[in-house]
This record gives sequence, C-alpha cells and structure tokens, in this order.
Amino acid sequence: MAENIDTDTVRDSEICSHAFEAHEQYQGAMAPPIYQTSLFTFPNLERFTEVMRDERSHFVYSRGLNPTVKLLEEKLAALERGEMAKAFGSGMGAISATMMTLLSAGDHVLLVNQAYGPTRQLLEQMARFGIDFDECSGDSRDVERALRPETRLIYIESPSSMRMELADLEGIASIARAHGILTAIDNTWATPLFQKPLTLGIDLSLHTLSKYIGGHSDLVGGAVIGRRELVARIFEHGHQLLGAALSPHSAFLALRGLRTLPVRMRQHQSNVLDVIQYLAVQQEITAIHHPCLATGEAALWVEKQLSGQAGLLSFEIDNPTYARIAGFINALQTFRIGVSWGGYESLAISQRQPDDTGPTLIRLAIGLEAPELLIEDLKRGFQTLR
Ligand SMILES: Cc1ncc(COP(=O)(O)O)c(C=O)c1O
Repeated sequence: MAENIDTDTVRDSEICSHAFEAHEQYQGAMAPPIYQTSLFTFPNLERFTEVMRDERSHFVYSRGLNPTVKLLEEKLAALERGEMAKAFGSGMGAISATMMTLLSAGDHVLLVNQAYGPTRQLLEQMARFGIDFDECSGDSRDVERALRPETRLIYIESPSSMRMELADLEGIASIARAHGILTAIDNTWATPLFQKPLTLGIDLSLHTLSKYIGGHSDLVGGAVIGRRELVARIFEHGHQLLGAALSPHSAFLALRGLRTLPVRMRQHQSNVLDVIQYLAVQQEITAIHHPCLATGEAALWVEKQLSGQAGLLSFEIDNPTYARIAGFINALQTFRIGVSWGGYESLAISQRQPDDTGPTLIRLAIGLEAPELLIEDLKRGFQTLR
C-alpha cells in the first residue's frame, strides 16, 4: 500500500488545507481572519523607523504585505515548490508586473504558443518602450531558432487556453539557461496541482487566481512564484510601484478555493474525460484540442509534465459558419455563455464573427455538474448542426 502513495498529492493536500495556518493566533477560528485594513500601526517611532528600513518584510501598508494575502502567498509558493510567491490584484497584474520588472528598452521576448490575448496586447504596447517580441511553437528546436542576442525572456503558455497547445518545458528551460535567458510560464490551465514548472527548470510560474484556484467565479487575482531573489525584485518594482495589490477579502476567497482545489480538479478531470469521449464520436467535429489527446512528441511532454487533466478544451466543427456556431451554443441550457473558466459552472464561447471571419473554435469550460447533464446539453447543440 505504502509504495502507491503519491507524495506530491499528499503534500499538496496538506498545503491546500492546513499548512501555514496558526489557529491559536486566530482565537482558534478554523477560517483565517480577513485582515481588512489598509495600514498597520506601531507602538513608538523607534519601532516604526526600524520597520521602514525593511518595509517589504513587515506589515506596514496593504499595498505591500497583508497577513491574509501572505498566508495565500505561502501556500502558493509551497504548492509550486518555489521559494516565494507574490499575489496580485489580477492575473494581468501579475503578468504586467513581471514584464515591467524584467524587461528594458532594447530587449526581446519570445512568446511560446498562442498567449492569452491581453498578454500579447501588453507586449504590443511595450513596443512603445523599445521592447520587441516574436512568437513560436513549444518545440525547443523552434525556440532555439527564434532566439536573438537581445532575447531576455521566454514566456510560455502550456497548455495554452484556446488551442491547449503544449511546450517542452525541460528542453526550453535548458536552452534558456545555456543562453542566460529567464523563462516564465502561465500555469493557469494546469494549476499547481497538475504541473510544477519550477521543478522542470522554469524560473517563474504565473497564475490568474480567477480560474481554478478561486474556483467559484467570484474573485479576480493573480500570482507569481519562483526563486526568492527574482520574486522579491518583482515585488519591489512591479508590485509596489504599479500597485496591482490583491485585496484581503479576495485573498480569503482564494484561500477558501484552495481548500477544495484537489477535490474539484479530480472532478473536472473525470468530467472532461467523459465529455471528450462523447465529443470524439460526433461526426460534425473535425478536431478536438485537449492535452489528453496529444500525439507524437507532445504526448511525451504531457506524460512528463502533467499529472492530471483540467477541464478546458476546444473543438472545431465542419462548415464553421457563425450561424452554425451560434445555433450550437444558443441551444445549450446548462452551459452558460461567458468568458473566463475554472469555476464550478460549465461555459461555452466562440470568437467567430458574424461575417464568418475570426477563429472557428468553440471553447468549452467543463465545470462540476454531473457529466450526464453536460452530455445531454451538448446533444441539444449537435441537433442544431444536423
Ligand atoms: C490563461 C490566462 N492567463 C491570464 C489571464 C488573466 O487573468 P485575469 O483575468 O485574472 O487578469 C487569463 C484570464 O482569462 C487567462 O485565461
């Protein structure tokens, strides 16, 4: 029996539930208090003067450190096996703070896979500050070919959030290290439970907490995790000065989300595998994008990097006109139409335009409802295509 225990899973469940909590300091309360305060006061000026010499290690002002946010940061760092985490007011807050801290005029960024739209837009904006970028696939040979002498950051999404593309994380990390280039990954799809990029040599793992970690579609937040020296720099510059701080109340909601993350992710996985089994035999479908269907080298990356399957997938139908896609999505009753993903609820969207331009994908976020209910709902959609 003992040899079957997955030590990572056991440790992660301890981190999500009890680790770093000091109930005796909370009057025995099971839920940690929400330190809903903007500032912290000191008994005398001597103590204040001492604390201000190292402001980022003390509770001074909640744009910097706050006890509720700090508890979340400790748990996130431990889940990713990183030294330090910093939480942000949104995923984009974390991404922009990272880029603004690490990049200077003349630098080049390599985007691996199709980045989340606003991440790419941010890099387009950074052209105004003399920062350039290119895009490439997740194959490390492709990455090596796309490097420039001025490349400072390789920014990866794996799995990515529209086509669920994958990248060879170990291969890319080793090329980057050989060239003295930093690597960062948006690890939101997998969550820290299903993928631990820092253990594969990636320097920084970024998250939006607004998806699976929050898990209930009621908070917006973000985080950066990595080596202390690197995250401390992002804290000092990108976090403190750009000001995208996470509120104590949102940190509390993220902590509450973490409690059930392992259970929810197991259910998302089970549900998505059932839904994909159903989709795989629908004659109108021409392609399904999800890491569980990866082939060739990508399948090897999945085996090495991912310890579970999250619930976000996309697929394509034959003759993908706007009218057909809208007919399909509008027929769904359990799936709601909306951006974002990672909550308890199932969602469907497409970026197809009424003039039949734009991406042809239909994206589904598979929630926690009974899979039978979801499949029944999808049948309503497919009936409109026949
Ligand atoms: C993959 C991915 N990364 C980052 C973000 C940005 O996170 P936030 O909305 O919390 O700013 C999103 C949001 O949808 C996302 O899907």
